[in-house]
Amino acid sequence: MQNKEYFEIKGLGGQKTLSGKISVRGSKNAVLPVMASSILFDSPLELTNVPHIEDVERMRELLLDLGAESEWTSKRSLKIDSRKLKSNKLTSEISKQFRASILLSGPILAKYGKVVFPHPGGCVIGARPIDIFEDGFKKMGATVKEVGEEYHIKAPKDGLKGAEIFFKNMSVTATEAFIMAGSLARGKTVLRNCSMEPEVQSLANYLKSCGVNIKGIGTPTIEIIGKKSIKTKTPYKTLPDRLEAGSFLILGALCAKDLTITNCNPDDLMVLTEFLKDAGVPVSTTNKEIIIKNNTKPNDSFTSSNIRTHEHPGFPTDLQAPAAVFLTQTTGEATVFEGIFENRLEYTDSLVSMGADISMWNPHKVMIKGPKPLKSKELHSPDIRAGLALLIASVVAEGESVINNIYYIDRGYERVEERLRDIGLDINRISE
Ligand code: EPU
Repeated sequence: MQNKEYFEIKGLGGQKTLSGKISVRGSKNAVLPVMASSILFDSPLELTNVPHIEDVERMRELLLDLGAESEWTSKRSLKIDSRKLKSNKLTSEISKQFRASILLSGPILAKYGKVVFPHPGGCVIGARPIDIFEDGFKKMGATVKEVGEEYHIKAPKDGLKGAEIFFKNMSVTATEAFIMAGSLARGKTVLRNCSMEPEVQSLANYLKSCGVNIKGIGTPTIEIIGKKSIKTKTPYKTLPDRLEAGSFLILGALCAKDLTITNCNPDDLMVLTEFLKDAGVPVSTTNKEIIIKNNTKPNDSFTSSNIRTHEHPGFPTDLQAPAAVFLTQTTGEATVFEGIFENRLEYTDSLVSMGADISMWNPHKVMIKGPKPLKSKELHSPDIRAGLALLIASVVAEGESVINNIYYIDRGYERVEERLRDIGLDINRISE
């Protein structure tokens, strides 16, 4: 579903002229699991602060295709009524477009006893297997069959049973899918080695607020006592997107004199604010804002330091690419180690084509020597986060860059160009 739109960006050539306030929208990775959780409820679900991004539309299309009803009740409020699904099979055309489709497996199986889905698609950043899901469903008593390209998963006649599941890797969407499955399973489910990302916590806290007995939220061990029926009590308010806030922060560090990032949770981004402070960036925070003030020293006065991505609260893999752009402008040598995914450094080729000094040591590790001036280029967004990183690089660079494949950027960031124009960037979306 790629459209033929691209961005034209006039680079600042290393100047720091952006200024003003930029507001953060609701989080993609928080809203998608909660949309999937609509299937668990015996009442309609209302969500607020929902971002207008492509992945939200894809999730809505999947739910509608299953037989749910959904409408936007105001600009950022969405109502989903998934009480009467007509199908338990995820359409392959949409599921193959985004990984988060796998989130629906847990609630459909728990509520309807059977689910059929293809191997989920998504950004090409690594192997992205689903073995943790298969193993977990089997532990809950289900049978898993691969039929052609599809997985057919069937619960026992009397429904999924609570189980003790140890995740061999921390997995965000698996933790979320099993929190949802456990909420309607018989008895107690204990999940170990859980992801602790704020988005996982947000889903669990919402289910808890709807009466599900969940303990250990935000820790590696989560216990859930399943219920026969769950009803929504209050609307779900989508968390601010920490990854969007983090991307704006890196952009601000490199290109803004004064920038206030509003509607965010600075506590969820501590690892990035500390990294930038260590480099010399004048960053401060309040409850809901991150502020860059008097950022007048040149970028080569900032110092480089190594990054190693890690599950929360470590350095997020989703901010690895924007942070690498930062390191092309700072003074020193630094390695970037991608610890979560096998294939998430390929975009560095594009930075090299813009003039960066980056050498790949292996698919998990690059060395960046800075500072190097960047020059404009025609670029292609390879995935959501690297797409935004290339956008930041284009703003840093001298001259006018073009970014193609912006469907990827639109998957995770709502009309980002409009908010960037408001802080002084010359950026245009061109439709062919
Ligand atoms: N893994 C397995 N087996 C599985 C599932 C995962 O080995 O069955 C491995 C993965 O291959 C990876 C590691 O576990 O090496 C962690 O992957 P995880 O499952 O946590 O990733 P995910 O749940 O598919 C979510 C986000 C990603 C984000 C990662 C890591 C959503 C919808 N997606 O993906 O976000 O990068 O967690 O934090 O929440 C993005 O927003 O652009 C994005 C890619």
